[in-house]
Amino acid sequence: MDHYVVFGNPISHSKSPLIHRLFAEQTGEQLDYSTLLAPLDDFIGCAKAFFENGRGANVTVPFKEQAFRFANSLTERAQRAGAVNTLRKGMDGHVLGDNTDGAGLVRDLTVNAGVALKGKRILLLGAGGAVRGALEPLLAEQPAALVIANRTVEKAELLAHQFADLGPIFASGFDWLEESVDVIINATSASLAGEVPPISSSLIQPGRTVCYDMMYGKEPTPFCRWATEYGATHVLDGLGMLAEQAAEAFYLWRGVRPDTAPVLAELRRQLASA
Ligand code: ATR
Repeated sequence: MDHYVVFGNPISHSKSPLIHRLFAEQTGEQLDYSTLLAPLDDFIGCAKAFFENGRGANVTVPFKEQAFRFANSLTERAQRAGAVNTLRKGMDGHVLGDNTDGAGLVRDLTVNAGVALKGKRILLLGAGGAVRGALEPLLAEQPAALVIANRTVEKAELLAHQFADLGPIFASGFDWLEESVDVIINATSASLAGEVPPISSSLIQPGRTVCYDMMYGKEPTPFCRWATEYGATHVLDGLGMLAEQAAEAFYLWRGVRPDTAPVLAELRRQLASA
């Protein structure tokens, strides 16, 4: 049996064991997957010990940057993200670091929701780790423009500068924006405080603009409620991104791409009854 874990602190709330158990059942892959509470001051020691026998791991808050440093080599998208959420030990014992978060977002938008991003005007709210991880996969879809808007504008400017070689990327403050866009993605943690980033509702063109919140919950998030109120054509939360980033990791480990639809339906059912 091949061993996989998700590292985090805290970690007991993680849905990853359920998701990967369902993927394994569906594909007939022989593996076990559990949570691993790493000490805040010794992720590296914990990861080294696990990889004596372990085959692969997911990594969540607050260890993604440490996992980036722990990996022996990195995929291009992990390099760009500056963070790793997936580790895979190869036959030679080397550990590869990948970041599947942005690919999960793009797949949820383009495949599950059927929203093509090529030639579109995309607005990304926030400039933290979640945004950094999404930029390379989003720019690979060749949008007409990708605008990063953040409360602290300097952080958006730095990201736009660092990713300028990959496509048409711009930085902005929240209150500089007025003209409607095709897609708005909320990657701020404002929802945790029950808030919506202070952007104009004129950014939504009713019946056309798609709104996506990387967060999710039992009830629609504040951003999703705002988007629905102003007439967004599609309003999506981040549960699909969670399932898709896991599927990307499973594919990296096992070479088999699971069908996320039944797993996402189960996650949605459990969330509703929680
Ligand atoms: P993550 O790794 O999830 O991206 P992070 O790096 O802590 O988390 O980034 C949080 C993001 O949410 C930042 O862009 C932050 O804005 P600042 O850079 O100005 O701090 C943004 N954010 C947090 N609370 C917010 C709020 N109430 N309104 C708007 N933006 C908020």
